[in-house]
Formats: sequence, C-alpha cells, structure tokens
Amino acid sequence: MSKTMKTEHIQTSGELERCPFPIPFGWYVIDYSESLEVGEIRNIQAFDQEWVIFRGGDGSVGVTDPFCPHLGAHLGLGGEVVGNNIRCPFHHWEYDSEGWCKNIPYAKRMPKVCQDQAVLRVLPTSERYGLIWAWYHPEREAPSFDLPEVPELEAEVYIPVRHGEWQIGTCLQEIGENSVDFPHLKFLHGAPEMPLGSAVADGHVFKFDIDAGSTTIVGECHGPGAQVVRHTAGDTTVLMFSTPLPQSTDMTLSRMHFTFRDAAEGTAGRTTAEHVYQHSIGAADGEESAGFEAVDMVIWNNKKYRPKPILCDGDGPIAKWRKYYRQFYSQDDA
Ligand code: FES
Ligand SMILES: [Fe+2]
Repeated sequence: MSKTMKTEHIQTSGELERCPFPIPFGWYVIDYSESLEVGEIRNIQAFDQEWVIFRGGDGSVGVTDPFCPHLGAHLGLGGEVVGNNIRCPFHHWEYDSEGWCKNIPYAKRMPKVCQDQAVLRVLPTSERYGLIWAWYHPEREAPSFDLPEVPELEAEVYIPVRHGEWQIGTCLQEIGENSVDFPHLKFLHGAPEMPLGSAVADGHVFKFDIDAGSTTIVGECHGPGAQVVRHTAGDTTVLMFSTPLPQSTDMTLSRMHFTFRDAAEGTAGRTTAEHVYQHSIGAADGEESAGFEAVDMVIWNNKKYRPKPILCDGDGPIAKWRKYYRQFYSQDDA
C-alpha cells in the first residue's frame, strides 16, 4: 500500500498579489534641483497621490497637498508663487513652504487655526547632490534618519553626473530585492560566474557585497529611497546612485545617477569605467540584453510577490532583506 505524503500548499495565480505593500516611509528624490526655478510650480505624482511643488523667492522648495484649506481649490492649477509663498487661484490665500497661511487679502483677522498651526499639509524637504528630496511618512512623523553621504556626487575629480529615468510597474521592495538576488546576476544579466555575496542590516542601512568575478559590487541602502552602489573592475569604480520614487503602490519612477573618476578618453581607466557604466544601463556593445532596462523590467513588470517563496541554498539573503525592509512600513498600515 502506498503511503500518502502530506503536501504543502503552494500558492498560485489568484492567491498571489503583485504589490501587497503600502508606501514605505523615507527620504525620496522627487525632482532635480535645476529643473525647478524660483517662481515655478509643478504637479507631481508621488506616494499614491498628487502633490504641488514650488520654489519660493527665497529658494525654498514647498511640497504641498494640492487642495487649499480654504475651499479646496487645486493650488497647482492656476496658483502662483508670490514672494516666498504659493497663492491659491480662487481667493488668493497664500501659504509658505512649511504650510502656514501667510496672507488672506480680504480678512481683517487671520482665522485662529491659521495662527496656531500650519494648515496646508507639506512634506519636509532637503536639497542635496542637485536633487530635491522629500520625506514621506504616512502618519506624518518627522524624519528618523539622514540622507546618505555620497562624496563622489560632489567631487570635482568625477565626471558630471549622468541621469536616467525608467518607469517600472511594481513596488520598491520588489525592485530593491534585486540587490540580494545574487544568482540572477548570472542567469539574467550574464555574469560569467556564479556571484557570491553577503549582506548585513544595521538599523536603517542595509549593506551588501557581491563578488561577480571580474567585478565587485558593494552597496548600501539608506531606507527605501536611496541606494549607493559601487561597481569596481580593476582599479576603476563606477558609482551608481539609485533613487526610486513610489508614484503609487504599484508604480515606481526609477531615477539612476552615475559618475566615475574623470580620466582622459582612451586611457584604460576611462575605457573600463565607460564599459561598466554602459553595461549597467544595458547599452554596452554586444550586451543589449544584459542591462536592467532590457531584462529586469520584463520580470518586474510581470511578476507577483511570493510571501512564502521556495528558496534553495544558492539563493541570496532574501529573508534578511525582507526583514530589513519591513521596518519602513508604518505600523498603522500593517
Ligand atoms: S479655495 Fe483657496 S483661497 Fe479659497
Ligand atoms: Fe537585476
């Protein structure tokens, strides 16, 4: 008589979701500093809603909820920057970049609530490395960690930073998990050998180190919105700074910034650096199919999240990554 084995239930299509996560909190790049001039207003999609961004006369950047606390007009459609404030098109109430109502042109007295508190929701902002950053937290908690230090982005001896943008149809956690998915570097990206790696989580920072034969990859994640990765081949290192922005729970605007130590055209260092750079964006000669744009995106845009994956002994530290990442989901969202 044959023995009946107890089998484990493996989830399939309808039981799996693509992006079963809320928006994680952290610092995020929302735009390039040079693209927002004094007096400019723009509407952006981020953190599952629309925001209005503006630059006041004093250079400060405001990232505000679009809807005026007075009667709800959209500040980013017909609003104007007046001095340091954004002015609503409907009745000309003005708000500063911290959300305080600064002027009501026809009121004899400011309403009490406007005297006591900022009435327009704004996000904390910072500008660094030529990028505009906003701190997002669903419960509006203040920043709990700092922006990363990336000296290469400010060093004179490095080439001007090259930027690229890609729209990816999945959530940040799924994209970030690539960092610890060491075997995919061979099977998806064509690394000549099976890469070996290690990873360690330390508070809000997650560090990983991958030996992929001719290249070593050393990375640091500083929360969900900033990842510093250094690809070293020989004595040349290319910096890749990745700043994904969650536009919604299943749509990410991936911005990547690259630089390396300047060296004359034709020198070995320059040639290697250009190759590593081209390789990482999938544009190296004969390697059109190796870069993340060509290959990772097909996976990301179509995969589903497996909460209970079947892992083998050659897989990277997926569980460690997921445990690290969980800290950025607000308890109230869980
Ligand atoms: S609705 Fe904005 S000023 Fe009235
Ligand atoms: Fe990848």
